Amino acid sequence: MLKNKHILLVITGGIAAFKALDLIRRLRERGAQVTPVLTRAAEEFVTPLSVSALAGSKVYRDLFDLTAEAEMGHIELSRAADLIVVAPATANMMAKMAAGLCDDLASTLLLATDKRVLIAPSMNVRMWDHAATQRNLEVLKRDGVAVVGPSDGDMACGEYGPGRMAEPLEIVAAIEAQFEAGTLTGKRILVTSGPTHEPIDPVRYIANRSSGAQGTAIARALAMLGAEVVFVTGPADIDPPEGVGVRKVQTAAQMLTAAKDALPADAAVFAAAVADWRMANASDRKIKKTKGGLPVLEFAENPDILATISQMGAGRPDLVVGFAAETDDVIENATAKRLRKGCDWIVANDVSPETGIMGGDENAVTVISDAGAEAWPRMTKDQVARRLAQKIADALIGG
Ligand code: CTP
Repeated sequence: MLKNKHILLVITGGIAAFKALDLIRRLRERGAQVTPVLTRAAEEFVTPLSVSALAGSKVYRDLFDLTAEAEMGHIELSRAADLIVVAPATANMMAKMAAGLCDDLASTLLLATDKRVLIAPSMNVRMWDHAATQRNLEVLKRDGVAVVGPSDGDMACGEYGPGRMAEPLEIVAAIEAQFEAGTLTGKRILVTSGPTHEPIDPVRYIANRSSGAQGTAIARALAMLGAEVVFVTGPADIDPPEGVGVRKVQTAAQMLTAAKDALPADAAVFAAAVADWRMANASDRKIKKTKGGLPVLEFAENPDILATISQMGAGRPDLVVGFAAETDDVIENATAKRLRKGCDWIVANDVSPETGIMGGDENAVTVISDAGAEAWPRMTKDQVARRLAQKIADALIGG
């Protein structure tokens, strides 16, 4: 399973760094390619030479190693990897990662990466139990970082308790799980995103405030897990993500056609803020001001794309996820909306102006399914996307 997988292994300066040597050996036995990165402190515990010999690779050591930067900058280093593993991860490195600090090669590539990250914490039990470390751990988990260990045991410092780095074989198992449970390779997923524009005449239209940020982040997160994503987007403020199939549309009617054309799919996520109404009397010529009075706009109801796909019977994606943008009675309205539309999950959010969610960077959602309502803390739209993508992967693959 790890054959030809490229693991970027960051070794930080903890007493458990010596176990990283065994980890490298175990990974290579399984066919993985290991590129090691050592922090300065790690070099106090293991030598670059022994790491390099075991990894069969150059060891990357310092941000300002200009030769390395010329050969392969820190961004490229993380791009080339399938997974980044930090073992051992010291309290200091966890704090830096949680805060987004980047003052050496290891922390910089961790900040610059869009790849999955797995950490194996290792520290004194009191440092592990400290509120700051536990807070950092929560932040990292929310950011989508996977964690293995630490385990309970006698520590080098003479104390006993949690803080001991997971054993190399446990870390190998956690690495394998990353390639197994998370992967959406071979799965096709439709994502709708952005607003729709409903023309009044050739120069005017009705629209809404959706930026497309949440749908774009979801499409990106699903693609990062290996899914083949068909991204049907209305005229959004931001560019579509890379690595997805983009279908640009203007109106709800076009969005419905593009969504149907994207089927069959294993899952569909309807993040678009589709206009509920279009003009029944849209003009194909520009409407001119007349002395006689004001134009009368007549509305017609748009097709409900989510409901149409949810209720299509044969050919329906296995998992259909809708969104519910509400300003009042969020959970009740969203729960009713899920049943009315027939989707499997509804991601409910409060879009009242005071929340700053519509058009903002953050979101606070509750995921409603047959299993009940799961409230997620307020987090960035990227974090919501990654967590939702992982939940979709777990549901499709049974992870
Ligand atoms: N949706 C859709 N097609 C529409 C309207 C909505 O596919 N014509 C989808 C959205 O993409 C979202 C979900 O339905 O996943 C709910 O959208 P929302 O605007 O909250 O609900 P509405 O159906 O518009 O209901 P209401 O305006 O009454 O709250």
